[in-house]
Amino acid sequence: MDFKQSDANVLRIKCSVLALTRFEEDGITGTVKKVDSALGGALSLISQDEKFNGELGKSVLVNTLGKIGAERVLLVGLGKKVALSSDNFRKVGILTAKKVKQFAETITFNSEADLKKGYLTALIEGLTLGSYEFDKYKTNNKKVNGIKTVEFISSTLTERSFKQEVEFARAISDATNFARDLINEPPIVLTPAKLADFAREIATEEKLQCEIFDRDEMEKRGMGGLIAVSLGSEEPPKFIHLTYEPRKKPKKAVAVVGKGITFDTGGLCIKPRDSMRTMKMDMSGAACVLGVMKAITKLNPSVRVHGLISATENMPGGKAYKPDDIVRALNGKTIEVIDTDAEGRVVLSDALSYAVELKVDEIVDLATLTGACIVALGNYTAGLMGNNEKLIDKILKAAKLAGEKVWQLPMDDELRKDIESDVADVKNVGNRWGGAITAAMFLEKFVGDTPWAHLDIAGPAFMERGGDWYPKGGTGFGVRTIIRYLLEM
Ligand code: BES
Ligand code: ZN
Ligand code: ZN
Repeated sequence: MDFKQSDANVLRIKCSVLALTRFEEDGITGTVKKVDSALGGALSLISQDEKFNGELGKSVLVNTLGKIGAERVLLVGLGKKVALSSDNFRKVGILTAKKVKQFAETITFNSEADLKKGYLTALIEGLTLGSYEFDKYKTNNKKVNGIKTVEFISSTLTERSFKQEVEFARAISDATNFARDLINEPPIVLTPAKLADFAREIATEEKLQCEIFDRDEMEKRGMGGLIAVSLGSEEPPKFIHLTYEPRKKPKKAVAVVGKGITFDTGGLCIKPRDSMRTMKMDMSGAACVLGVMKAITKLNPSVRVHGLISATENMPGGKAYKPDDIVRALNGKTIEVIDTDAEGRVVLSDALSYAVELKVDEIVDLATLTGACIVALGNYTAGLMGNNEKLIDKILKAAKLAGEKVWQLPMDDELRKDIESDVADVKNVGNRWGGAITAAMFLEKFVGDTPWAHLDIAGPAFMERGGDWYPKGGTGFGVRTIIRYLLEM
């Protein structure tokens, strides 16, 4: 998608869609009024018919019947003036793209509010995110068009800052859409080995360091958690380590860790059919890590970033790990297996221990870890836990900037008893209640004193039905938050 600035006349410019915006307070005024008059009042009429008053998330579409240069006009709500934010512009962008991508190749965008710095980024992010489709496996019935060019006629930005905004927005949204693609790939294609291939490809393209450990190397190092979970599968497990080195010598290093279960059957504690479906998404944390690493050279944060992924299937094969097993993680701690379906924390135990060995200053992990987190917060909000309030605040702030919903859950000393084991250092499941929290307290055992934050993205990583602001399937949740976090360091 190409983005341009233009000073063309709204009535004369040739394009598939002229996108206009209005505030709730304004009614049909300004440019909208000018276009409405040229269309013989069509915008006012359809707004009345559809009870559209400029609300955020609503829009009306009319065909111009050749009365102006554009073939159609889309009038989009900007919401209330006082509530105007870059997140609203992101939503306007998503809505616009979703409404017109079937037929529009060229969009001209005229905003009632000044598209100043930050707003334009968000709008472009929205347009790119809203254009996302996963249709590569549809042999016919593909979306023929797809938006090619968007021209902005209301931007007061200089050419230089316009360019910067475009590049920033593009890096972030392409990375998000890339993560979505990885999540949406069927598990027969997206195996742990394939994830490792993608990591290698990214490393070559973006000039990152890349190390991939196979089973032998894991065994040598003592990654007993990842190995145990992989035993029930015919697909070889992979541990992925990408490193980004900033141009100037960095003052800090961080590790971004992703859960990469390319399919979670539950293992021997097998999931019922309805819970197993969609479990290709159990590598969404890994997809986020790869998305971030793909964008990182374009964004140039000033910290060293390690992207770490524990990748395996969780299958109930003849050699599968079992309830009652005791396995030893990389940091030497032993884990009693109660439930083989709580595999995410078992594979992360090694990745987190590895991050500690790298002597990083901060660790952030992303994992589709617990159904309990969805019960607690619903489908659209990620749970945030950790051992360091400062880091947690940084993540909350980054999420807010990114427009991703994140909510902190408490670590609870009374609950910690639930994962005490009689035979090992920790067990992989607590009681029924507070499952998102006990999972986080399990992970805590493997981060030592390193400041660490954990994002349980089980809810927002994947939308079975699609959401207002998300496509059906993988959402790429986390990419935007982590990028903002890295840039604020
Ligand atoms: N991958 C699942 C968590 C999950 C559930 C993600 C639903 C997305 C949607 C995880 O490995 C799992 O199975 N967790 C169990 C833990 C339980 C056995 C303690 C769960 O949440 O039921
Ligand atoms: Zn599981
Ligand atoms: Zn899982």
